[in-house]
Amino acid sequence: MKQVSFMSEKNNFAHFIIRDFKSDDYEQINLLWKETGLGGSQRDDNLQVINSTLANGGKLIILEHSAQNLIIGTAWLTTDTRRIYLHHFCVKPTYQNKGISHLLCNESIKFAKEKKMQIKLEVHKDNLIATELYKKHGFTYLGDYDVYIIRDLSIIDKVEL
Ligand SMILES: CC(C)(COP(=O)(O)OP(=O)(O)OC[C@H]1O[C@@H](n2cnc3c(N)ncnc32)[C@H](O)[C@@H]1OP(=O)(O)O)[C@@H](O)C(=O)NCCC(=O)NCCS
Repeated sequence: MKQVSFMSEKNNFAHFIIRDFKSDDYEQINLLWKETGLGGSQRDDNLQVINSTLANGGKLIILEHSAQNLIIGTAWLTTDTRRIYLHHFCVKPTYQNKGISHLLCNESIKFAKEKKMQIKLEVHKDNLIATELYKKHGFTYLGDYDVYIIRDLSIIDKVEL
């Protein structure tokens, strides 16, 4: 756990804690992810999935307002042991626009450095705030790739050749 005293041009002095996820946090972060548009059952994210990514070498960073015992941000880092993937990166809406996301981004990059792995993310092309933030932290655009996924494997039949 790390105490962070934070002050920026946009923010008065505030105290935050950056720490690792605990199972007890799940309900609160699930609400936070819904609130910030990162939730949804189609993603198949649940406590079991989180714990298995952690067992696999990932990290779920929790940013907490220490005075209020309130989780106000997350950054979920998973790894396939080749790269780190950054997702579920968010700040609670009432705490946005104060520069707080830099704390989460710094901590995420620190983790990738510790692991000595490249770090990759997906961001919607219309998400200007997140894109600017990531660029500011050194992420560069990878190119004109589209992203594909099979959400429900059960509806996929083998392609006849
Ligand atoms: C993305 C998110 C975490 C950023 O947090 P935030 O509190 O809104 O942003 P911050 O105040 O910390 O600003 C961080 C940086 O974002 C960029 N930014 C912020 N507001 C911006 C705006 N209106 N226009 C362009 N860039 C902007 C700037 O680079 C800023 O850094 P600076 O203030 O040092 O210049 C937050 O908006 C969020 O949770 N959004 C919903 C979830 C989401 O979209 N997550 C990303 C998924 S890939």
